[in-house]
Amino acid sequence: MKRTHHCGELRGTHIGQKVSLCGWVHVRRDHGGIIFIDLRDREGVTQVVFDPQHNKASWELAQSLRSEFVIALDGAVRNRPDGTKNPKLPTGEIEVLVHTLEILNPSDTPPFQIDESGGAQAGEDLRLQYRYLDLRRPAMAKNMRLRHQVAKAVRDYFDDHGFLEIETPILFKSTPEGAREYLVPSRVNPGKFYALPQSPQQFKQMLMVAGMERYFQLAKCFRDEDLRSDRQPEFTQIDVEMSFLTREDMYALIEGLLAHVWQVARGEKLKTPFPRMPFIEAMERFGSDKPDTRFGIELVDLTKDFAQSKFKVFRGAVDSGGVVKAINAKGLASATQGQIDALTETAKSFGAKGLAFIKAEGGQWKSPIVKFFSDAEKKTLAEKLKIEEGDLILFGADKREIVWEVLGRIRLAVADMLKKEGKLDVRDDQWNFLWVVDFPLITFDQEANHYVASHHPFTAPVAEDIPLLDTEPTKVRGQHYDIVLNGVELGGGSIRIHQPDLQKKVFEQVLKIPPDIAESRFGYMLQAFRYGAPPHGGIALGFDRLVAILCGAGNIRDVIAFPKTAKAVDLMTNSPSEVEPKQLRDLHIKVEAES
Ligand code: AMO
Ligand code: AMP
Repeated sequence: MKRTHHCGELRGTHIGQKVSLCGWVHVRRDHGGIIFIDLRDREGVTQVVFDPQHNKASWELAQSLRSEFVIALDGAVRNRPDGTKNPKLPTGEIEVLVHTLEILNPSDTPPFQIDESGGAQAGEDLRLQYRYLDLRRPAMAKNMRLRHQVAKAVRDYFDDHGFLEIETPILFKSTPEGAREYLVPSRVNPGKFYALPQSPQQFKQMLMVAGMERYFQLAKCFRDEDLRSDRQPEFTQIDVEMSFLTREDMYALIEGLLAHVWQVARGEKLKTPFPRMPFIEAMERFGSDKPDTRFGIELVDLTKDFAQSKFKVFRGAVDSGGVVKAINAKGLASATQGQIDALTETAKSFGAKGLAFIKAEGGQWKSPIVKFFSDAEKKTLAEKLKIEEGDLILFGADKREIVWEVLGRIRLAVADMLKKEGKLDVRDDQWNFLWVVDFPLITFDQEANHYVASHHPFTAPVAEDIPLLDTEPTKVRGQHYDIVLNGVELGGGSIRIHQPDLQKKVFEQVLKIPPDIAESRFGYMLQAFRYGAPPHGGIALGFDRLVAILCGAGNIRDVIAFPKTAKAVDLMTNSPSEVEPKQLRDLHIKVEAES
């Protein structure tokens, strides 16, 4: 039986035609001796009918059909009787009266029903264990299709703009200054290891030295990080590099890319150019370098106003060089003590010592701390935070970086609470793209107790800040840019250093990488830069994050065919797994850890 149509295809215009369909038994219903099957394939569902009056043998065979049996059939398209039409289904006007049926393969009873309610009930571990069934669910199949369409749109766009897609190696070299890496032992070089690339960064820069001028790749990247809803150990980047460009060229290129993708994937026209915001402004106003600008609840600075305060917590923070800031969670004075305690716990988990608050309720300010405030302080607060009846004011007083982080997180948490109560309207289909720019080139890493590159050591300093490299390196801005959408970091990149001397200086003097280590890790780059390296720069966008946003998926696992769990396990294949002692011997590896 050769398939003539797929299961989403038949309409009223096909009535009377002989057709062959194949697919999976979605649902079976028996009605007065007649058997109805919803037959499903990748494209949709068609109702097919087995009637003993029409073909007894097929009807008898159909008695044995169960969910997820794979079948092929032929029959005739007919009008559904009035009252049984289903306007919600594209094929809801017709049904196929089956002539012959062939069972191509039976199925065990699936562990969950292949539809949305079955997926919801199953829980994610079961879905991941039976991913081949989970992907049969129409919602997941739709995500896979959209992912393909976006990948195609990306490739078309870059092809139109003169970019070449070039593959870069997966067996790379260890570069421990980034995220933790996956190592691969070398059999033929005992004691030596490859590392899987965290990104194709160094190769794409070498492609620029090689004169490729415009490169892109849908690149697999590997990072052994703590996993979250928007992080996977292996993920895909839209990786881009080009020569002879300015930052403006890169902004325009990526705005064009995203506009094209939104057009293809959602049929929507994006407004470009996107706004830009310096890093410092993002932190001061939103407490985040990836601010969700769809709503306000901005951080208000009160440092000067409380410099002389009698409230020791605020005064103490200012005296030791810190800041005092607050947000107004408008309409949240109704928060229960339990909710305030939960917010306080959140604040503490990000390094706060507490979370002072004021509730404007019943015509007064209810708060354990207002008694310490002077009238002038109260007046300033009321004005600066525009306090009205029903508001909840939340404070942070600490080192500047801690207050940013804490109030940034609390801002998101109260926005969620307000959304749930219907007091804040944040639309999922409002697209607030934002370029965050002017990041510091280096940041102090408390854990490591030295300066590290804010992004990676290849980012070029802003030209006019270069003299500060010797005097005040923390004031040097990098030519880095992040593209942010609704609070999600979609991507980031920079103009790179292409001068060997400047690169060496950043490695050795600024980042204090010992010269022998810099030489062994990056020596080939410094050498390459001495052979006519063009000025160049690039960016990488998280492809999984992009597709998740376009699909409206809450986590990137739903747009990855075979993702891993939060413990980096593939539940379907049971990986990672133990290996044979001989394999380890061949690789010169001895395992000491207990498994
Ligand atoms: P960066 O490290 O910022 O830059 O990565 C770029 C983008 O990749 C996505 N991303 C991830 N997505 C899913 N799971 C992960 N574990 C994960 N980690 C990162 C994010 C992020 O914005 N080589 C540079 C880019 C450059 O300078 O050109 C780089 O990799 O969306
Ligand atoms: P205390 O004087 O320590 O009892 O704190 C009084 C109030 O201020 C409590 O509500 C604390 O949660 C809050 N608080 C304490 N330290 C800070 C801080 N660094 N920033 C903001 N609020 C704080």
